[in-house]
Amino acid sequence: MKILVPDVPFDLDFPSLLPDGGASFAPGGTDTVATYAMNEPIPAEHTDAELLVTWSSPPKIVADAAERLTGLRWVQPLSAGPDVALRSGFAPDVVISSGQSLHDDTVTEHALALILASVRRIDVSLAAQREHRWAKEIAFAQADGVTGREYSLDGARVTIWGFGSIALRLAPLLTALGAQVTGVASRAGERSGYRVVDAAGLDALLAETDLLVSLLPAVPATRHILDARLLGLLPPSARFVNVGRGATVDEAALEDALRSGRLAGAALDVMETEPLPADSPLWDVPNLILTPHVAGGRPRGAARFLAEQLTAWRTGGDLRNVATRP
Ligand code: OXD
Repeated sequence: MKILVPDVPFDLDFPSLLPDGGASFAPGGTDTVATYAMNEPIPAEHTDAELLVTWSSPPKIVADAAERLTGLRWVQPLSAGPDVALRSGFAPDVVISSGQSLHDDTVTEHALALILASVRRIDVSLAAQREHRWAKEIAFAQADGVTGREYSLDGARVTIWGFGSIALRLAPLLTALGAQVTGVASRAGERSGYRVVDAAGLDALLAETDLLVSLLPAVPATRHILDARLLGLLPPSARFVNVGRGATVDEAALEDALRSGRLAGAALDVMETEPLPADSPLWDVPNLILTPHVAGGRPRGAARFLAEQLTAWRTGGDLRNVATRP
């Protein structure tokens, strides 16, 4: 099997972690690993690869691979979301599996950072710092009997939309800070002690949400799912944090909600168009914190994960995170 791996700065030496220690990848063995430059089209001598591992390649490079790598059987992105691979035009029989779980720790940390930055108004302090201004209004609002509770997660009703492995990492940290966490997923029930509602319970839950965290993937069904109607259900003191995918949010509706004060604040790590164009109105929306899609940053344990996935592939075991093809 010929495997193509991107020229990432982190360790991807998976053959040595295979049960046979990578014997089949030794010179003269049956398998080969070739490295490709992730920002350039796959060289012609590698279009016979059967497994393509991807990480952060521009969508047009992935689409080009889908067209030219006609012998592919499997695409393994190392990103949590397989959306770029899914929309790149790979033949329907090519298996696409994601790197879900490789980003749980860092996305959780980033989500927590955005949540706390928004709740504790770090954006206001930073803006005031640039003006050499002592933003005493934050202290007054915090001490106020009415607005004070908006500055703390203690007692805050937090809704996490997309209740998978990242949510299960994030939820206990929020609980430890005193938040009451409820999940939203395709199936209602209880997961690891957290109440989870489905689409039928969403409207009522949003009306009682102080902080909405989205971890939703970009699939056709989630496109602009957070729209003006749903944003309108949130209390005006609510905040929204998105570390899922930008395409799930109607950004014009979000901008409108923030500018009109119908939503207190938001923090986005992901936007519909990335990089966010310099002339995007989002840059200047009040009470909006933006970070440049850095929550994931690097897949942790990618070499071990690839070795396990390859072993599953070869032995007919359970390949993890196989994406449903639209
Ligand atoms: C991912 C990401 O999907 O970083 O891994 O957004």
